Amino acid sequence: MASQIQPDHLQVAPDHGARHVAIIMDGNGRWAKKRFLPRIAGHRAGVEAVRRVSRAARELGLECLTLYAFSSENWKRPASEVADLMGLLRHFIQADLDEFHANGVRLRIIGNYRALDASLVQLIDAAVARTAGNSGPVIAIALNYGGQDELVRVAQTLAQRAVAGDIAVDDIGIEAIDACLDTAELPPLDLLIRTSGEQRLSNFMLWQAAYAELYFTDILWPDFDSAALAAALDAFRLRDRRFGGL
Ligand code: IPE
Ligand code: IPE
Ligand code: MG
Repeated sequence: MASQIQPDHLQVAPDHGARHVAIIMDGNGRWAKKRFLPRIAGHRAGVEAVRRVSRAARELGLECLTLYAFSSENWKRPASEVADLMGLLRHFIQADLDEFHANGVRLRIIGNYRALDASLVQLIDAAVARTAGNSGPVIAIALNYGGQDELVRVAQTLAQRAVAGDIAVDDIGIEAIDACLDTAELPPLDLLIRTSGEQRLSNFMLWQAAYAELYFTDILWPDFDSAALAAALDAFRLRDRRFGGL
């Protein structure tokens, strides 16, 4: 039987071998609905899960945890829900940055977050700058993130460089694209988890997921915890990654 990782009592780095885990945090609305609560209650409980899982990621020795918090398509939701989500994000950064910083966490953002409200952008930039010199794990939050949007921005950047004569067209390859992605300098994505039973990427990390292992669980995001993350890593440990080879 697969060994159970006990994140709360972990003394040494575990042997799961994953450096970078990303999570599509889905199911907040259904969690609330089951309890006859408004959707915002599910999102609030989702923030608690972010806190738990961020701690667990550190304890489980991950180098990077990337969390899909708001997609480039989530603007289609009612304005009141978008406002609730932005409010929770603002509060989360204000309330949790000290703990992140004290634990050596580096906060990163992926996605076109500069399109968010100017005061939120300022708050985010200050938070990222404050933790930039830390040497601990990276918590990357995907905000206004879409994999297609990210690749469009990469294409535009490289096209501009080519037009300016700073890069030859022949030098536009996998490495050049990697270096332009929002995830530049982060470890390669090992494991992509989606909660709530949906089995799709919803525009998340399309390029980065090329050889990531996929893990789907029926657990709704607000119920996800350190044991659930440890179970996903246990499953990952047993996967045979071949990268096209033998
Ligand atoms: C995930 O939960 C949170 C965000 C997408 C911001 P949902 O809000 O998508 O929850 P469901 O899918 O409606 O249950
Ligand atoms: C994906 O969840 C986005 C986030 C978790 C932030 P959605 O709930 O928006 O995805 P769809 O609409 O079910 O594909
Ligand atoms: Mg959803």
